[in-house]
Amino acid sequence: MNSDLDRALQLLDQSEVVGLPTETVYGLAARVDRPLGLAQIFKVKQRPLFDPLIVHVDSIAMARRYSNVWTEAAQILAAEFWPGPLTLVLPKSDLVPTIVTSGLETVGLRVPKNEVALDLIRACGVGLAAPSANRFGKTSPTRWEHVESEFQGKVFTLKSEPSQVGIESTVLEIQGSHLVLHRLGAITREQIENRLQGQEIVFSWKAPSREKKASPGQMQHHYMPSVPLVWVEGELTREQIQQRYLSAVSQIPDEVEGIKIVKSLKVDRLEELWLPKDPVLAARDLYHQMRVVAQSADLIFFRKQEWMEGESWAPILERLTKAASLKLH
Ligand code: TXA
Ligand code: MG
Repeated sequence: MNSDLDRALQLLDQSEVVGLPTETVYGLAARVDRPLGLAQIFKVKQRPLFDPLIVHVDSIAMARRYSNVWTEAAQILAAEFWPGPLTLVLPKSDLVPTIVTSGLETVGLRVPKNEVALDLIRACGVGLAAPSANRFGKTSPTRWEHVESEFQGKVFTLKSEPSQVGIESTVLEIQGSHLVLHRLGAITREQIENRLQGQEIVFSWKAPSREKKASPGQMQHHYMPSVPLVWVEGELTREQIQQRYLSAVSQIPDEVEGIKIVKSLKVDRLEELWLPKDPVLAARDLYHQMRVVAQSADLIFFRKQEWMEGESWAPILERLTKAASLKLH
């Protein structure tokens, strides 16, 4: 008997939330059939109700319970990339409560690539709705220790290895023959195209709608560390970065789309956020490094280098752009 697993099962059954390890980031999970548990996710995370949750399942068979329309494209992509960092957004079934989808008629589904998570979902026998286990707008957790500190030890978390991918899943909506990429992640557009073309599936890409309700999670800011992060392009020195930040800080808004922008009015300790050159390792390290560096600084900067380009860097740079309080060129 695994006592941690038993404890997690019991808490979930009692409509509590549990920290869930996955290969992308750690999640804050509740059973989809426990409305009070689902409400608890939004409360603990301080998350607005308009942002829908992803339902984590153990298999294609379980995914099909939660979706009314399972297309050939869905089957091919799920068979190829699950377990893994791809969330498929499909028309939802009646088993998915509206609180999970924020009233949308579609639901995000994925099979995480982590044995502890899969054991838990199998033992529950139902899907687990889980957003990333961070307070809304803050840096996502990639280690169980991050979840403990984010919620001051108030959330029981299943322990597992650090998340190997390190950034959130690619979110892909399938609308008949149209594909909509809602969020970039480790599974690239090219991988998706290649797989579907290999099976002679006819499809076309459609841009996500700018309407808030149709494409939540596309906010300008997110993933913010505890001290301000400055995005730097070009040859600015450390002194210039510090001076330009301090002269701009009074112009930075307090809040954008409900997310509080992190600011420091005084800068004594400026630190650089370094990432490995290999984008796979950079993604894995990103959120951990953001947390570590923030602990010993009151301002952090990240230098975007010219060689950080292509489909593997794009999701990392997108996170950093949203995490930044200010951009300097
Ligand atoms: O890797 C991940 O996806 C992690 C782990 C825990 O699985 N989860 C995660 O959840 O990042 P969260 O809540 O932080 O981000 C989910 C995002 C939403 O903000 C939204 O952009 C998108 O997924 N999403 C979910 N359901 C959707 C839907 N029905 N239509 C469009 N986008 C949806
Ligand atoms: Mg998140």
